Amino acid sequence: MDNPLDRILKQYPNTRRDNLLPLLQDIHDSLGYLSEESIIKVSQHLSLPSSKVYGVATFFDQFHFEPQAHFVIRICSGTSCHLSGSAEIMDEFKKTLNIRPGQTTRDGVFRLEEVPCLGACGLSPIVEVNGESHTGFSVQQIADLVEACKENVA
Ligand code: FES
Repeated sequence: MDNPLDRILKQYPNTRRDNLLPLLQDIHDSLGYLSEESIIKVSQHLSLPSSKVYGVATFFDQFHFEPQAHFVIRICSGTSCHLSGSAEIMDEFKKTLNIRPGQTTRDGVFRLEEVPCLGACGLSPIVEVNGESHTGFSVQQIADLVEACKENVA
C-alpha cells in the first residue's frame, strides 16, 4: 500500500512554492500532525530548506507537530460511503471507544474523526487509520482493528 505521504506528494506534481501551504494542510489532514519526515519530504519536493517549511508551518496555529493520539481513525462521511454504511461504522466506533468524533480516548491511544469524501468512492466505505486506507470496511472488522491497534501500543 502507498505511503500516505508519498500519495499526497504525487498529487502535487507541480513543485511551485505556492503549493507549500495546501500540501502541509493535506498532510496534516491525513496524518493528524506534521511529522519531521513530512517536513523533510515537503522541503525536498519543493526544493525549499526544511527550516523554511518548518517556519511557515509553525506560523499557523492549526498545525500540530506531535501525534494527537497513537491512532487517528478517520471515517469518511461522503455520499458514497454514507450509502455503504459509514454512519453505522461511526456509531460502532463511538460505542467501542466511548468517544465522539473530534475526541481522543483518555489514554491517548485513539482519536476519532469524521471526514468528507476521501476521493476513493468506488472502494467505499473507507476508514483510515493513521492515513492508511481500509477499503470496503465493515462494522464486523472494528473489534479486530481496535485490538490490533492496542497490541501495537504496548
Ligand atoms: S464518499 Fe467516501 S471516499 Fe468518496
